[in-house]
Amino acid sequence: MNKNIRDEFPFLQKKIKGMDPVYLDSACMSLRPQPVIDAVNSYYQEFPGCGGRSMHKVGRRVDEEVIKARLSMKKFLGAKSEKEIIFTKNTTEAINLVANSLSLSKTVLTTDKEHNSNLVPWQLLSKRKGVTHKIIPSKDDNTFDLEAFEEMMSPDVELVSVVHTSNLDGVTYPLKEICKIAHDHGALVMADAAQSVPSMELDVRKLDVDLLACSGHKMCGPSGTGILYGKEAVLEKLSPFLVGGDTVHETTYTDHEFDDLPERFEAGLQNYAGIIGLGAAACFLEGVGKSNILSHEQNLNKRISAQIEDDVKIIGPRAEERSGIISFVPKGDVHQVALLLDETSNIMVRSGAHCVHSWFNARKIDGSVRASCYLYTTAEEADFFAEKLKEVIQLVK
Ligand code: ALA
Repeated sequence: MNKNIRDEFPFLQKKIKGMDPVYLDSACMSLRPQPVIDAVNSYYQEFPGCGGRSMHKVGRRVDEEVIKARLSMKKFLGAKSEKEIIFTKNTTEAINLVANSLSLSKTVLTTDKEHNSNLVPWQLLSKRKGVTHKIIPSKDDNTFDLEAFEEMMSPDVELVSVVHTSNLDGVTYPLKEICKIAHDHGALVMADAAQSVPSMELDVRKLDVDLLACSGHKMCGPSGTGILYGKEAVLEKLSPFLVGGDTVHETTYTDHEFDDLPERFEAGLQNYAGIIGLGAAACFLEGVGKSNILSHEQNLNKRISAQIEDDVKIIGPRAEERSGIISFVPKGDVHQVALLLDETSNIMVRSGAHCVHSWFNARKIDGSVRASCYLYTTAEEADFFAEKLKEVIQLVK
């Protein structure tokens, strides 16, 4: 990865308590480069108005910038039309939108490694509407079991909603093959792509995925931004979920006419600054080249894993099969390990169940420590983390 890339991230330029920050929590929230911060600021400083409503020049400028951001995200994901890009506040909202809008009455499949955001909506749907929710088991090494999945497919399965790259262990599921099998059985596929979109060359049309949810704040974009991508024909089948301002083009006291795609699903005033920043993030990552990002992350993962694998139990298969995520169970309390890394060395990692409580509970594991690398992480930081982790583990034993 080009060394100058770090110069673009203001957070990395300042010391904290006299030490350089070592930010290894990008799977939760990525840092933002200056072009994204500038794009957000430009909204507040130059055209801080409302989109989709006002005819004055500030309102028109917001509309122009939102259209540009939508086109950037369309290109970034490989969508066919900008109508297929719905702005949300995060992956969670995108998945909830589908769970509450797609007409489902039979069976939904998810996997045993889903984030709560791709688990709880289906559990609720099951309780409220009697939809059957079944869980595809992983193989012993935490990778996707295509055979088990195919065996579970039946004419009753209407939707397969799976994580693309797991936030638990960085394993990427074979989404194209999953889509093929699901489609052969007449089911739709939704991908929780929160962890794959930031790092991976991904094209929704090549994958043939029907619906895909991702977050802006994991891909260098502003906090509280996300996308629901859907094939136009699939989105046309969804009934609007949050309704009100800007989702309709006409109302009477007794009825309404919904707007076209995508506005039908973007109710009320929007996070214009965030949307514009998200467009800038997509352009920034395209400039870097996404295939470079994944290989950079995987090299760092291999480097860290090789240094710590004798000291801790790493979750998932060998490093080559994981992204920039190294999730491990140390001896001792995971939160104490994370706190000590932060306090002694400015190393920021996440600890706990990472919103995948179901996986940990089923295995009676309290949680893990998770380090996650991104495009700005260096080999020096990887080595520093491995060294300090060994010291911290001795303290908490
Ligand atoms: N999904 C986010 C994470 O894994 C919150 O940290």
